Amino acid sequence: MKTHKFTRRQAIAVSGAGAIATMTYWPNKAFSILKNTDGKLAVNGGSPVRNKAWPGWPVWDNEANQSIIDMLNSGQWWRGGGGHIPEFEQQYAELMGMKRCLATASGTTALLISLHVLGVDAGDEVLVSPYTFIASYNVILLSKALPVFIDSDPETFLINPDKIEERITERTSAILPVHIYGLPVEMDPVNAIAKKHKLKVVEDACQAWMAEYKNKKVGTLGDLGCFSFQNSKHIPTGEGGAIVGNDDEIMDKCHSFHNCGRPFGTSRGETPYHTRGSNRRMQQFQALMLLSQIKRIKKDSDKRFENALYLSSKLKDIPGIVPYKFVPGGNRGAYYMYPFRYQKEAFNDIPKEKFIKALNAEGIRCSAGYGPQNTYGLIEEALNSKGYKRLFSESRLKRYREENILPGNDQLCKEAVGLPQNLLLGDTKDMDDIINAISKIYEHRDEMS
Ligand SMILES: Cc1ncc(COP(=O)(O)O)c(C=O)c1O
Repeated sequence: MKTHKFTRRQAIAVSGAGAIATMTYWPNKAFSILKNTDGKLAVNGGSPVRNKAWPGWPVWDNEANQSIIDMLNSGQWWRGGGGHIPEFEQQYAELMGMKRCLATASGTTALLISLHVLGVDAGDEVLVSPYTFIASYNVILLSKALPVFIDSDPETFLINPDKIEERITERTSAILPVHIYGLPVEMDPVNAIAKKHKLKVVEDACQAWMAEYKNKKVGTLGDLGCFSFQNSKHIPTGEGGAIVGNDDEIMDKCHSFHNCGRPFGTSRGETPYHTRGSNRRMQQFQALMLLSQIKRIKKDSDKRFENALYLSSKLKDIPGIVPYKFVPGGNRGAYYMYPFRYQKEAFNDIPKEKFIKALNAEGIRCSAGYGPQNTYGLIEEALNSKGYKRLFSESRLKRYREENILPGNDQLCKEAVGLPQNLLLGDTKDMDDIINAISKIYEHRDEMS
């Protein structure tokens, strides 16, 4: 078990000198970084570390109201009328440093389009991160391909690149790495493996706007990158998504596919409908909202990054709290959640759920993250379906089941705790509330056992 490394000076830096309470929560120390507490855990009836509200999310800028009313009055509500969607696409492409952007109805549809256009077909296999939102592999199942889960590295919360190559078969056609919580996947080894085995790379950057890997924006490092603008996201518009890419021919195909297979740019043929497609279009009001929301992304991202680094620098000193591993060298997260691991052994074996309840009671919103989704019912439902039995041999499905064991991911699911992104929009004192609340729970662990 780690020992406390807080010196008195660090404690003052964390809490502000005037806020140091007289109570002693650190064993063998004559001071505490706690404040505003009667010393009892809030979950046991004490005063919470924090009563103040957190910065709200999403935030609406009324300046955009008139443009939305004008659009409504124009009657041009769909992609085919009005120029707001192309205007947003241009701005988002510029922000990402990419040639092209295609706005879509959602992040899920962005992923579906990308897989289709890059040639992922029925009976293929796609290598995917298991620690993610369900959409990342629902899109593989909807493509009638096999989602082959690559184990997570619990330290980074991300796909473990060392585990990718061993799961490649002659059917593997793509890798779908997920920059979960906006943490950047190590893309160099992922791309090197993809190149060696001639695989396509679709980055799921649905939680990773402005995140960077080696000073390059994530979502711009594979063949195509997909983003979500759903209500809770950092550039929110209720529902919405985007694909970014530099290859005109591929992006033209994406456009055609998302517009029922209508021709676009180089994507055309002898007949009117030369290619298959679907309706995955964005609406005008979504683009207008995005044009407003995008204005705050740079400032918000800097704030979240700064606060995340501060939190990690302090939380790492609390026994049993392991912040996600930050790899320096031009990397930065977007922090859809600020993630850390809770190791209950340091907290008298108090289960994670109880720790989360106690932290919420102290006024710090947090949640448990993702479960071991590789074992969820939808996988077996797919494998047992008529289609999958036709597409994959019995022996392949048997081996799939045998290999679908992910110890790193299981550990991560057991230990992960996430703080929602809007907490990171606060100031240093707000971050101190988080640190103080977790420290308080640690110091009072005996009361919870
Ligand atoms: C990692 C990840 N992938 C895909 C999606 C799907 O995006 P959407 O909800 O916009 O369809 C999300 C959305 O929450 C996500 O978090």
